[in-house]
Amino acid sequence: MTTLTTAPLAPLLHRLFEEAALASPEDNPAFADMPAANLARLMRSKTQYLNFYSSLKDYPLAVSPATGTLLYMLARSHGARNVVEFGTSFGISTLHLAAALRDNGGGRLISTEFEPSKVARARQNLSAAGLLDLVEIREGDALQTLAQDLPEHIDLLLLDGAKALYPDILQMLENRLAPGALVIADDAEYSPEYLALVRPPAAGYLSMAIAEGVELSMRLG
Ligand SMILES: C[S@@+](CC[C@H](N)C(=O)[O-])C[C@H]1O[C@@H](n2cnc3c(N)ncnc32)[C@H](O)[C@@H]1O
Repeated sequence: MTTLTTAPLAPLLHRLFEEAALASPEDNPAFADMPAANLARLMRSKTQYLNFYSSLKDYPLAVSPATGTLLYMLARSHGARNVVEFGTSFGISTLHLAAALRDNGGGRLISTEFEPSKVARARQNLSAAGLLDLVEIREGDALQTLAQDLPEHIDLLLLDGAKALYPDILQMLENRLAPGALVIADDAEYSPEYLALVRPPAAGYLSMAIAEGVELSMRLG
């Protein structure tokens, strides 16, 4: 029996993933007629990310169910106690990571989201799952909210906010990643600069693309 696969979390995730599947950002009028190349440029922008994600404030933009399960498995098998997440949205990935912390015997998950209505929804979902006590959601831009008051050692870092900031967030937190710490970056192909930081053999990571655009990296000693 695990927190992930039993009530109240399992039926909640089932509903949230069903709702997420019906809320495709491509249906948003702001992007419906936009050529794919322009959309990709927006996703990579380092100056327009606040506008871009504000216009998607009603969309969950969640990890896939498979990626969610993978997050739980990685955090659980790693025995993670200190987890940081960039990009909370409605809290779907957060729920998976918090479930792993619960099954690991406790811990602390710091997540961050700049959109206030999303922070409220994520807190509501975590509360419904009985996991809110493990999670601190910092409201604001991750460049500020993750700049201080972090655990000395981070066991697992999920990057799932504005893609252009992946390199900045990694570099901000890197000295807290102990040897063996895991970094998971969703849709990492939108940040070639990030891949250039984690993939070279001398970069201090073992790193590879795994399913669905997810880059999994492990910090070396
Ligand atoms: C892809 S969604 C996250 C989905 C979430 N991880 C899940 O699986 O449920 C990205 C989220 O990051 C937020 N975001 C983007 N850039 C951010 C930043 N610089 N600081 C804080 N939040 C940010 C967006 O508002 C959006 O809700």
